[in-house]
Amino acid sequence: MNIIVTGGAGFIGSNFIYYMLKKHPADRIICVDKLTYAGNLETLEGAMEKKNFKFIRADIADRKMVYSIFEREKPDIVVNFAAESHVDRSIDNPEIFLQTNVIGTSVLLDACRKYGIDRYHQVSTDEVYGDLPLNRPDLFFTEDTNLKTSSPYSASKAGADLLVMAYHRTYNLPTTISRCSNNYGPYHFPEKLIPLMIINALSDKKLPVYGDGKNVRDWLYVEDHCRAIDLILQKGRVGEVYNVGGHNERANIEVVKTILKELGKSEDLIEYVSDRKGHDRRYAIDPAKIQQELGWQPETKFEDGIHKTIQWYLEHRDWWMGIISGDYQSYYERMYDSRAILEYAKI
Ligand code: NAD
Ligand code: DAU
Repeated sequence: MNIIVTGGAGFIGSNFIYYMLKKHPADRIICVDKLTYAGNLETLEGAMEKKNFKFIRADIADRKMVYSIFEREKPDIVVNFAAESHVDRSIDNPEIFLQTNVIGTSVLLDACRKYGIDRYHQVSTDEVYGDLPLNRPDLFFTEDTNLKTSSPYSASKAGADLLVMAYHRTYNLPTTISRCSNNYGPYHFPEKLIPLMIINALSDKKLPVYGDGKNVRDWLYVEDHCRAIDLILQKGRVGEVYNVGGHNERANIEVVKTILKELGKSEDLIEYVSDRKGHDRRYAIDPAKIQQELGWQPETKFEDGIHKTIQWYLEHRDWWMGIISGDYQSYYERMYDSRAILEYAKI
């Protein structure tokens, strides 16, 4: 099988590439990535030496380039991870989110129509369902929950999902979609909650918790997500959506305190800051469909996954030091220097 993995130089895409190279050594993986601020070739160092791996730097929204890649590489499968993925950046400047997440997806779908494909898989997110109230722990997102987005990021991902469904219905394109909850693990870019808090704590910098810190996310170790996508490629039904999540809901403040405890750092580092605009309160996935149809189960418990993740950041300082020494500093100042500090009682 020739498998194009877009966005493979980012967090989940790179973990997926390592997973697939190990699990399916007879397949050929072609990573297509624009190498935005979030893409890092160092992340793929361990794949570059493999004969069945190839890296191509390209923008998925560049039609001419994408068509020439399809013509040359003749993919059987396309797994689209490429996206602008950070909610705060989408609030700051939505345009590139539409360009990559919507237009980029449409170009890939057109290429699949033109050249033929066994499967196009769209890596989507639980954020397309909007949020759930904190006082209704009985509610979960199912595949039938209405799309009801909150941020330009989630709106662009929902737009892409709708296109994928339309291409399946109208052109009979063999598509699948997965909507996963928050991932964590190695190679997670330090603009996101868990790696940002680990790195700040290691540098004895303040840990900026948005609002009251009670927003809930449903955390899944990245390898469990990769295994779910592989299963969907093998056994998933064409035209279907599969939710992926491990029933592992945590309030942000709990996650931050767990990280501080693991690192032996003081909770005095926590600083409550002004909230994200439109901040989703709670995400919670009902994974019954993928469990019952495909037999998927999460394998890594949060306590083990967070420990492994922290160890990884301790052992890979060069990887993240390289990132935070570049444009990241000006990003951090832009995002955090203007946030007011809130006087919440410690929880
Ligand atoms: P990431 O930001 O770490 O990586 C994105 C990658 O896409 C980078 O390598 C970047 O260079 C590349 N890219 C961006 N624009 C591109 C373009 N126009 N053409 C080609 N490549 C481009 O993102 P991530 O956290 O690994 O997320 C991957 C996918 O999974 C995204 O589609 C995201 O919406 C989805 N997702 C993420 C999570 C999560 O918790 N991180 C959860 C569910 C779904
Ligand atoms: O649910 C899946 C989504 O998870 C993916 O689709 C997105 O690509 C991914 O970025 C992630 O979105 P979130 O907005 O949930 O992740 P983030 O790490 O940005 O924030 C997690 C929570 O932590 C959220 O409630 C906001 C809060 N937060 C985040 C940062 C960066 C803070 O309190 N302080 C921070 O500095």
